[in-house]
Amino acid sequence: MNYQWYPGHMTKAKRMMQEDIKLIDLIIELVDARMPLSSRNPDINELGKNKSRMILLNKSDLADAQANKAWVEYFEKTGIQTVEVNSKSGSGLKDIQNAVSVACADKIERDRRRGILNRPVRAMVVGIPNVGKSTFINSFAKKACTKTGNKPGVTKGKQWIRLNKSLELLDTPGILWPKFEDNEIGKRLAFIGSINDQILYSEELAADFITYIQKRYPDCISDFYQIENMAEPYRCLEEIARVRRCLGKNETLDIKKSSMILMDDFRSGRLGRLSLELPN
Ligand code: G4P
Repeated sequence: MNYQWYPGHMTKAKRMMQEDIKLIDLIIELVDARMPLSSRNPDINELGKNKSRMILLNKSDLADAQANKAWVEYFEKTGIQTVEVNSKSGSGLKDIQNAVSVACADKIERDRRRGILNRPVRAMVVGIPNVGKSTFINSFAKKACTKTGNKPGVTKGKQWIRLNKSLELLDTPGILWPKFEDNEIGKRLAFIGSINDQILYSEELAADFITYIQKRYPDCISDFYQIENMAEPYRCLEEIARVRRCLGKNETLDIKKSSMILMDDFRSGRLGRLSLELPN
């Protein structure tokens, strides 16, 4: 199946981000922990040059714990502070402040030499659609403010959320688009639900997913649905339809329905903590 697509509003969002980037010291880039490379945008290095950088492996609760560790090492080798987080539960958020201080050590030192004390770091959250930017901003602001007893202070003009005396966050995240020229990347994005399902054929998507995931986690589907392990993806969808009683007219197996069940079980983590990419 062809997974390429091209949203028209991309140029406008990129232009807005170029403006906002002028106002900040630090870029906090959210990626999906299940596929940190495919959920990045290649323009970010160009857009973010001369800025301090950090990566958050978000949705780390849905990814393989060992793979998460390997990815933290991978990005830190490139000199970027990286933290595993679950923005929904708040786990990992407490490690961010420290990572911000390390990522912005040069700026803090430069300020100190100029006699500027306590100028907060200004940060912007960026990432592709659905990676969890809004969830992160809300949980992080709440967490930082609960700890300090503050209310998130919002300054006039650009909306800054004052988290504490050393960190301010732009309240509107920068939206980036993933790289779509590559069909393999498009496919992984479709698996996690970042591409609108309505433009995809659910049975084909699920069949491609089965082939892909069984290479890495051969038993995850058969274990979860308690079915025989089978390599042929459409047979596998029929089996899922049988055990989950997905029946159409005249009791025929409805594999469109079982396809949706499978993708939903994967995306919500019920199938297990599965990573679609590992560092080379
Ligand atoms: P965006 O601003 O980047 O577009 O993403 P947003 O925060 O809207 O999050 C997209 C979906 O990802 C939401 O699910 C959100 O709950 C979920 N999410 C965000 N961070 C995490 C995380 O760390 N772990 C997990 N498991 N999920 C996360 P939704 O189904 O669209 O909404 P909801 O039903 O959860 O509210």
